[in-house]
Amino acid sequence: MAVSSLSKTQELLDRQKKVLLPQQSRMLLYGDEPLAIDHAKNQWVWDVEGNKYLDFFGGILTVSIGHCNDEVVEATYEQMKTAGHTSTLYINEITIKVAEKIAEISPGRLQYCFFTNSGTEADETAIMAAREYTGHSDIISLRHAYSGRSVSMMTMTAHKPWRLGGVTDPSIKQVKNPYSYRKPDYMTDEQFLDFLIDDLEEMLATCTNGKIAAFMAEPIQGVGGFVVAPKDYFKRVQPVIKAAGGIMIIDEVQTGWGRTGKYWCGIEHWGIEPEILTFAKGIANGAPVGCTVMVPEVAEAIKGPTLSTYGGNPISMAQTYATLAYIEKHKLWENAEKQGERLRKRMEAMQKRYDFIGDVRGMGLMQAFEMVVPDGNKTPDAAQATKLTNAARAHKLLIGKGGLYGNVIRIAPHLNVTSEDIDAGCDLIEKALADIA
Ligand SMILES: Cc1ncc(COP(=O)(O)O)c(C=O)c1O
Repeated sequence: MAVSSLSKTQELLDRQKKVLLPQQSRMLLYGDEPLAIDHAKNQWVWDVEGNKYLDFFGGILTVSIGHCNDEVVEATYEQMKTAGHTSTLYINEITIKVAEKIAEISPGRLQYCFFTNSGTEADETAIMAAREYTGHSDIISLRHAYSGRSVSMMTMTAHKPWRLGGVTDPSIKQVKNPYSYRKPDYMTDEQFLDFLIDDLEEMLATCTNGKIAAFMAEPIQGVGGFVVAPKDYFKRVQPVIKAAGGIMIIDEVQTGWGRTGKYWCGIEHWGIEPEILTFAKGIANGAPVGCTVMVPEVAEAIKGPTLSTYGGNPISMAQTYATLAYIEKHKLWENAEKQGERLRKRMEAMQKRYDFIGDVRGMGLMQAFEMVVPDGNKTPDAAQATKLTNAARAHKLLIGKGGLYGNVIRIAPHLNVTSEDIDAGCDLIEKALADIA
């Protein structure tokens, strides 16, 4: 779908190119052609040319309960009329209410929150807390992780294109990620799990002094292409980390608050209790909120002053509270499980018909196709993934792309998606697949 040179999109792109970082216009366009959004409501997005799209990506898993959700809009407006900014200098009740809710619904002993403005800052806060608590500095993360765009979080991020500026923090080290689809063919699932744990132990024995601050991972690697850790993975990792004096930090920026179905938090599927969880994106339906929640002994270890001018801002807290209240009122973790199964069944049926869909994976409303060249070698096919994104757009459906090789299609409808919308979206994906086959 070429953008006409006279279109409003082209006019905006020309203006953007003059004032926003050139890389934003070169690299981060949606599919092959730019898409300029005019407005959005619930599951629908309209571009500036008047096209209406069904949104199955929610602004990168961030608009969790629909665009401009009425209850969130109302809560935002009410708070804006009441108190717009206070800073961490003062006490404000809405921030306490959100923290009380998070302490109530987070698993295990997680209790103390620190609010910031992004996932990057939530993850930064987590590693700062782990270092303060343990007195150690080394952090272990996973290859194919994405943790954000500060210098430390780019070091945590194990995707070459996202590591800008020559990141050099030697205390951050990555081990092999639990990417079961790409495990060596000669290994069983059990052997692969043993191999991952051996790799972790060898990393600790060879690249650290044996004492670490933390292990940090996403339960399902989001930007990494919805790579789902095997069922026993975190149970096997946790004792190894504990023996090295470290704690577990789980990054729930994409998996949090019902997204994976059945539970509030993704890690609950793996049955471990981490010392720290981090959140952003879907926690506030699009408001800039990061949250780091910790168990008491870790929180107590932070003795020095730390503040965030906008963290816990009453307006974004009102948005967070309204989002969590909406998810709770409608038990959306149940809907995510039910609609996720419906979506998954359709995607598996599609995989049977197209040999370039190498893998279907995910949990709840976080499902992916991995596109490969059908050569028997699982060769990643990024071009085919881009074609599918373009074809879906032509059929007025928005989906996402990801994965280290750029060959994973990420599908993540809003948590309040209906069966009708799942069916309609899947019909559009089928049409797009037929177009590119
Ligand atoms: C798992 C994960 N952690 C952290 C981040 C960073 O969040 P932000 O872009 O809000 O800084 C992201 C962003 O995509 C993410 O997916």
